[in-house]
Formats: sequence, structure tokens, C-alpha cells
Amino acid sequence: MLFVLMSKYQSVRGTRDLLPELKKVFRSIDETAYKTALNYGFSEIETPLFEFSEVFHRSLGETSDAVSKETYTFTDRGGDSITLRPEGTAGVVRSFVSEGLAQHIPLKLYYMGPMFRYERPQKGRYRQFYQFGVEVLGLESPLADVECLDLAWTILKKLKLDQRCQLEINTLGDIESRQAYREALVQYLTPFKLQLSADSQVRLEKNPLRILDSKDEGDRKIIADAPLMQNYLNQASKDFFNAVLDGLKKLNIPYHINSKLVRGLDYYGHTVFEFTTTELGAQGAILSGGRYNGLVEMLGGPKTPGVGWAAGVDRLADLCATTLAQKNKPPVSIVALGDKAMNEALFFASELRQKDQYAEVFFTGSFKKKLERANKYSTEMAILIFEQENGSFEYKLKNFKTGEEALKTREEVMRFIDT
Ligand code: HAM
Repeated sequence: MLFVLMSKYQSVRGTRDLLPELKKVFRSIDETAYKTALNYGFSEIETPLFEFSEVFHRSLGETSDAVSKETYTFTDRGGDSITLRPEGTAGVVRSFVSEGLAQHIPLKLYYMGPMFRYERPQKGRYRQFYQFGVEVLGLESPLADVECLDLAWTILKKLKLDQRCQLEINTLGDIESRQAYREALVQYLTPFKLQLSADSQVRLEKNPLRILDSKDEGDRKIIADAPLMQNYLNQASKDFFNAVLDGLKKLNIPYHINSKLVRGLDYYGHTVFEFTTTELGAQGAILSGGRYNGLVEMLGGPKTPGVGWAAGVDRLADLCATTLAQKNKPPVSIVALGDKAMNEALFFASELRQKDQYAEVFFTGSFKKKLERANKYSTEMAILIFEQENGSFEYKLKNFKTGEEALKTREEVMRFIDT
């Protein structure tokens, strides 16, 4: 009976509780990313978790997996079609348009929060997952792409992941180049139509470039000999891509050109990229993005270029849980004997906490038990507080390694912790 009750109330498939240890890692990742983004001139934005469905349908494209198969869409009580955000870019651009932010360009925005996709859950892939991301609006220059990539690289370096991932980059060219390539690709793929997977057959009509991204074995064999985008780029598109690559070289950011990288969302043109790792099985992409010069217009705003990326915090957390967990400052443990001494312990801890020191008071159990628990928390030292007969308190510093206890005044203990 108990089991039935427990299983009935498990979290929904593809979602999970971020229990304290994991949440600590998430926060540490977000703080690292946020502080670094500030140094690059980004400011934070938060858009709603849900939008009118149309916002995502128009932005990501009807044929993108995110829209055609993965959205959480429902009709609300007012009869509007609402979608939980599957990603952050569309909401930021909707806000850019509806809030009239065009007069403030160039804008460099950072965000962090949960996203929702009805994907098949597996390691590193969730139905509620977290992204932090950046969007740069109003900068046409390829140097904006370079700056975005440099920010990504700096964050990954700070998380000590730079040696554990690889930047894959490609260009989808401008509209003219993409059109020429699309025609060449359709011409190449049409004779194979019946051999293609069901998904790819649909894409052949609607969005043939996405076929290059197919994970289907049969598709991949056919794609192996497909024409390459780079042979269909006009001069302006070539120049743009070369300027991005030159910038990466100057900043010593290693990259690998992957001419089959097309990305799953429809809004991209010119630069597309992914930082990938081989350490997470099939879910190798940890940070991805690209340029989207047509998206603002698509959502009814003025012609405004855009470029950005988003990182999967769940995946980053899996990769750097051990390195980040070690970084936490050890707490000062306080153990007191007697009721009045307990109050003094709380007061003492409060003073330390106001100075940004992490302090922990142990309330329950015998004095011995409290000491044992304190030792587990901070393996080096504890502050012991005893009540005296005259109503004053005695303070001792206990060294857990040597077992020694040194009598101190309150001020001496405070000074010791401060240094
Ligand atoms: P995306 O490639 O769809 O791009 O997602 C970005 C990152 O989110 C991925 O590289 C991956 O790490 C993580 N991610 C995606 N789906 C899941 C999932 N189901 N579970 C866990 N992690 C996941 C975008 O979302 C674009 N909005 C990026 C962008 C911003 N492009 C321009 N600006």
C-alpha cells in the first residue's frame, strides 16, 4: 500500500528534483556564467515561462522538432493557445519587439531558467531542463559572433571544461546562399526519397537542410555524399564566416569546422556552432547557438540582426559536479552546552553570518553527539561555548585533528575566524 502511494507521487517522467547537493552545483554554474557575462557587458533579462504558442511556432519553425513534436501546448481557461517555452531566444525576441527595445540597440542580454520539451528522457535529456543563454541584438558585425563565442569559452574555462569539449562551427550563409544550397541538396536527395526515414521524407519538402542533422543510420549513409554548403556560399557569406574564424584564431579559441552542422531550430543563418563533449553519451551538446538575422522581423519587429547561444545547465552539472562541489567554503561549527549558551551560540553565529561567514549551530543531541556532527561538517575546528556559574560564557577553540582545546575570549575567537 505504502509503495503504491509512493509511486503514484513520483515526479513526472523527464523532470527531477534538484536536491540540495545538485542545486548547489547549478547555482555555482549560474553564478560563474552570470558574473562572466557581466564582464562582457551583458545585463540580465527574465521572460515568462509561457508565451502564446504562435511566438514559438513562428520563431522556431513549424517543422522543427521543438515545435512539431516537443512542445507542451494547452488551451488556457480564456481559450488562448499557450506553450511552455522550449527555449529562451523566442521569448527574448518577443520581449524585444513588444517592449519596444529596438531604440536601445545594441542590446546584450543574459538569461537563466527552466525550459520544457517533450523529448524522450535519457541521461542528459530532460523534459524540464535548465539553460543559461545570451542574445545580442542589433550588431551586424561578425565580431559580435566572436565576442559571444569568447564569452562561452571563458565560462567553460572557468568551469574547467575547456579541455573536455570541442567547438564545432559551420555557416549556413545568407538567404541567397542557403537558397542555392537548398536547391542543390533537394536535387541530390530526391532520387533517394523512398530510402529516407519518414521524418526526412517530410523534411525534404519542408526543410531539407535538417536532413543533414538526421541521426538515422540509413539517412546518414545517403547524406555522406551530399553536396556541401561551403560550395554554395556567395562572397559576402564567405567573408562573414572567415571573419568569425579569424577572430577565433586571434583569441586562441580552438574550433573544428563541421560542414554538416545545421542546428535544429529554423531561425539560423550565417554562423552556427555547438560545444560538444564525448563524456555524456548521445547528449553531447553542452552549449549551442548561432546567428539569427531574420527573427526579429519574423515576430513583427524592425529588421534587427541577432546572435546568441544557450548552455544546458543539467549537462554542465553532470560534467563538473565533482570540481564545483569541492569549492565550497567550510562552515564554522558552533557547539554549546546549556540553554543560555545555546542562545549565545545562535547570537554568535548570527554575527558571523552577517559578515558573510558560513556558520552552523548544532541544536540537538548530547554534547558528544553535537561534537561528532560538528566534526563531520567542518573537519578542522569548532567553537565551544559553555555557560559559567556567574552567567558569563567560556569560549574554546577545538582542533579536531589534534583534539586540543584552547581557552579564548569572545573577541579572540571572532578575530581568529576573521583572519
Ligand atoms: P538548443 O541547441 O536547442 O538551442 O539548446 C541549447 C542547449 O540546451 C543544448 O546545447 C543542450 O545543452 C541543452 N538542452 C537542449 N535540450 C535539452 C534537454 N531536453 N535536456 C537537457 N538539456 C537540453 C537553443 O535552445 C537556442 N535557443 C540557443 C540560442 C540562443 N541560439 C541563439 N541564441
